[in-house]
Amino acid sequence: MKSVHDSPLHHPWDDFIVSSLHDLEAKGLRRRLKSVTTPVSTRCLIEGRELLLFCTNDYLGLANHPRMKRAAAEAAQKWGTGSGASRLISGNISLYVALEKECASFKETESAVVFSSGYATNMGVISSLLGADGLILSDRLNHASIVDACRLSKARVVVYPHGDVAAVEATLRSRDNKGKALVVTDGVFSMDGDLAPLPDLVKVCAEADALLLVDDAHGTGVLGPKGGGSLDHFGLRPKGIIQVGTFSKALGSLGGFVAATSLITEYLVNRARSLIYSTALPPAILAANREALCIVREDTSLRFRLRRLTHYLKKQMASLGLAIPDQPTPIFPVIIGNAQETVRISNSLIEKGIFVPPIRPPTVPEGQSRLRISLSALHQEQDIDRLVQALGDHFRRGA
Ligand SMILES: Cc1ncc(COP(=O)(O)O)c(C=O)c1O
Repeated sequence: MKSVHDSPLHHPWDDFIVSSLHDLEAKGLRRRLKSVTTPVSTRCLIEGRELLLFCTNDYLGLANHPRMKRAAAEAAQKWGTGSGASRLISGNISLYVALEKECASFKETESAVVFSSGYATNMGVISSLLGADGLILSDRLNHASIVDACRLSKARVVVYPHGDVAAVEATLRSRDNKGKALVVTDGVFSMDGDLAPLPDLVKVCAEADALLLVDDAHGTGVLGPKGGGSLDHFGLRPKGIIQVGTFSKALGSLGGFVAATSLITEYLVNRARSLIYSTALPPAILAANREALCIVREDTSLRFRLRRLTHYLKKQMASLGLAIPDQPTPIFPVIIGNAQETVRISNSLIEKGIFVPPIRPPTVPEGQSRLRISLSALHQEQDIDRLVQALGDHFRRGA
């Protein structure tokens, strides 16, 4: 193999980069992009191989839904492909207005504001709401976008043990200065599929005058009678809560949003740098996002089907003796522990034509590597049987 030193483009930093990559490889943590040559669905051609997928966040199968494609195509025909500028310059085409109205109605809030991604949403809202005099309490298993946003905010950040409401309460009580405090949590934890203890957090935050921000990237469209997300699941009213949603998971598209009071959304339009200094989303995406909310509102069958499949997989996995937490989400972690071993099992499933991604640090804590199984409403029961059979071959034989 040619060494980097032989390359005419060798740069002094190459040694550092090569040794970092070797280090990741040795720990089983190196990642590689795979080329996918078919649309997102339950079956995909990945690197020329047809695989049955249990890895996407397209929980309702909307990413390739005829109504979504039609809405996007029509908007592209009418408006073109780009928005031309940031929203505060000339990019705020009227599709935004319609979409934000729909978001607010979906989340039952006074107002909503759309960002370019879920990541950009968290960065914008958290970093603009708090400065050096603020306090953020953040669940230990919160998504990386929240972790990064907390760092950017310069506020004091207290990371509390996962789901530990008593720790939140104690920290809020012990504040000497009664400045601004924000409690931030995923609604559904993306790598574990469990729910935040929202009813208790709502109570504790109200008592301590703290603001609660719920990032419901994985609950939106999936949980609750209306698909409204984890607040809908618990029957909670959104009053005084900032809800973050994404269009990139169950809503089958791209973008993020904050649903809150109009005072807060007005503030974000003026202060959230990831909204102000970034080009507006393209028309096709805005139109598809609105269509996704309409589908979720009108077609309950996808959500019910997903729930049925979730229940079915849970039952099948229990029959293998795998410890499956009792939770209502289509996310199933199978904890392996060691990163290399997790990659090995995932690769052995690929040999059987099934893709379940290995999730390793830093996405999950050290020693908590896992297979993350996710379901889509487009899966069939036979697909689940195939998965369970393959898992059974592995775990029964300890192969
Ligand atoms: C909980 C959570 N928040 C935010 C994000 C970021 O969303 P997006 O992919 O739309 O940037 C994700 C996606 O991975 C997530 O899981």
